Amino acid sequence: MIDKNAKIFIAGHCGMVGSAILRKFEAEGYINLITRTREELDLRRQEAVEQFYAAEKPEYVIAAAARVGGIDANLKHRAEFLLENTQIQNNLIYRAYLNGVKKLCFLGSSCIYPAASPQPIREEYLLTGPLEPTNEGYALAKIAGYKLGYYLHEQYGFNVISLMPCNLYGTNDHFDYENSHVLSALVRRFCDAVDSGAKTVICWGTGAARREFLHVDDLADAVYFLMEKWERPEFINVGSGVDISIRELAGLIARLTGFAGGIEWDHSKPDGMLRKCMDVSKITAAGWKPEVSLEDGITRLIAEYRKRKKDI
Ligand SMILES: NC(=O)c1ccc[n+]([C@@H]2O[C@H](COP(=O)([O-])OP(=O)(O)OC[C@H]3O[C@@H](n4cnc5c(N)ncnc54)[C@H](OP(=O)(O)O)[C@@H]3O)[C@@H](O)[C@H]2O)c1
Repeated sequence: MIDKNAKIFIAGHCGMVGSAILRKFEAEGYINLITRTREELDLRRQEAVEQFYAAEKPEYVIAAAARVGGIDANLKHRAEFLLENTQIQNNLIYRAYLNGVKKLCFLGSSCIYPAASPQPIREEYLLTGPLEPTNEGYALAKIAGYKLGYYLHEQYGFNVISLMPCNLYGTNDHFDYENSHVLSALVRRFCDAVDSGAKTVICWGTGAARREFLHVDDLADAVYFLMEKWERPEFINVGSGVDISIRELAGLIARLTGFAGGIEWDHSKPDGMLRKCMDVSKITAAGWKPEVSLEDGITRLIAEYRKRKKDI
């Protein structure tokens, strides 16, 4: 059990994942949670991160800060996704080790797996084939972050856990077209179509790609569970273990938003990896499972978008 007074640094607490983790730890009664906005601490800056660790002396670190984006941003900015993410995670992980942090949680992504992975994707498929080109820069950074933690454990006994979540969605997600992921982008398109009375919604790709989704509150619950119970440096998949085609997802969101028009598919846009569904038997065997159904989670996200729409 982590002491409720322990100093826990949640890096990236303004983001979708970090804010969910902050809410979860607050709800569990933790009273010494440390946060910094990007303006207060740019995690790409090694010296600033070193000074922060030396001054604050966090005992636990949850690394939920990263440059994150949808397929379009990933394709256009592969250099920045590789560079900024390696800078952020190198500083967070290596400086945590140097400053005596008791345990660090690194958040990777299911993008780390080879594009042609057999499905469902098991943890041991890492580095068994070429990556999906659309998010290669991001994936390479995530693999490097995981390996850095793993090697620090192997060489010096640093206590690090790494989680590879599937596609996440939920509270505080991005809805802007540059940075949003598929689910929130579809929620926006369908809500806007209902509001404007549009007869058709155009969606990217062919709709054939299949993805696995997890509500961010479930991910935060998994982080909490694994910070308490998981002590292995080998990474662990975190997901629902169930996938859905983008075509089916669009149909579900259309129904939940009340959109009654037609859906067209823009085949000039990429699908990304054809299928991405993880094997979650390792985390299931550890005793964790998600609670939020896709339909409930999307219903909540639609309500949030409608509330936030005027500010986006
Ligand atoms: N979203 C998903 O579907 C998904 C899936 C799997 C894994 N993950 C992982 O979960 C983690 C969080 O993702 P997310 O979806 O929560 O992303 P997000 O909403 O974009 O949040 C990322 C956070 O990191 C902060 N950040 C970025 N660069 C920074 C810098 N240089 N210095 C300080 N802070 C910086 C951002 O600050 P600002 O608020 O100032 O921008 C933001 O608060 C990432 O490691 C990601 O790889 C996400």
